[in-house]
Amino acid sequence: MWRRRTSSPFQLSEHVVVLTGAGISAESGLSTFRDAGGLWEQVDLEDVATPEGWERNPELVRDFYNQRRQQVLAARPNAGHEALVTLENRCQVSVVTQNVDDLHERAGSSHVLHLHGTIMEARSVVDPDEKMPLGEQDLTQNLTCSGGHPMRPNVVWFGEPVPAMERAVELVSRADHLLVVGSSLNVYPAASLVQFVEPGVPISVVDPDARMNLPGARVIRKAASKGVPEWVNGFRAAFSI
Ligand code: APR
Repeated sequence: MWRRRTSSPFQLSEHVVVLTGAGISAESGLSTFRDAGGLWEQVDLEDVATPEGWERNPELVRDFYNQRRQQVLAARPNAGHEALVTLENRCQVSVVTQNVDDLHERAGSSHVLHLHGTIMEARSVVDPDEKMPLGEQDLTQNLTCSGGHPMRPNVVWFGEPVPAMERAVELVSRADHLLVVGSSLNVYPAASLVQFVEPGVPISVVDPDARMNLPGARVIRKAASKGVPEWVNGFRAAFSI
């Protein structure tokens, strides 16, 4: 399952791509979407995670993301996020996350690609390149871009294009190992990334309630804070790093 690509005892040229979802942040206190009691049982995604919902009631959408941002600010990375940083110090690790929280970055991961944007920023409704960090401040209707237009959460809503997908496919297609942590793989195109690994590249899953069908995948049916360190320790032992 593991194959060594370099003689270096410390820096391995293996490229590990980690596709994460809401489950990796669950033990940091952030709700997932589709678990019992998850976000989509609390609010209708059509109202808060679609362009139509924004047009209908921007105040409701701003409140939804403001509340989640405060929860993110109060959360801390867990051992699952931190184990990926330990690995990053020993080989090439690319995190491709569906999450809009910044826990990977706050744990210390330095190569993080946000497929669905980030809750920590707002962007102009007319120019997606005009972004603004929000920090602790709420996104309000008074926050406007340089052209005087409203600002919206810098996240990808259902039905919107996923600009980071091309880069994500490039990363996954160059992976020597793919690790999927805490995602139901219910949402496309993100879920299709597992199909872009080269034949023979090992796929592993860390999820206590893994339901996805990934033939040949190694599944660690544990929570991220236990399962990711377990996977990382196994990888490091296999390559003596
Ligand atoms: N550790 C690891 N995995 C966990 C944990 C945990 N502690 N708790 C739950 N999980 C798993 C669940 O079993 C499930 O498979 O995390 C997964 C969460 O799935 P979803 O709630 O569907 O979240 P996700 O896959 O990230 O959703 C993808 O859907 O709503 C959109 O944009 C949103 O990015 C999100 C996308």
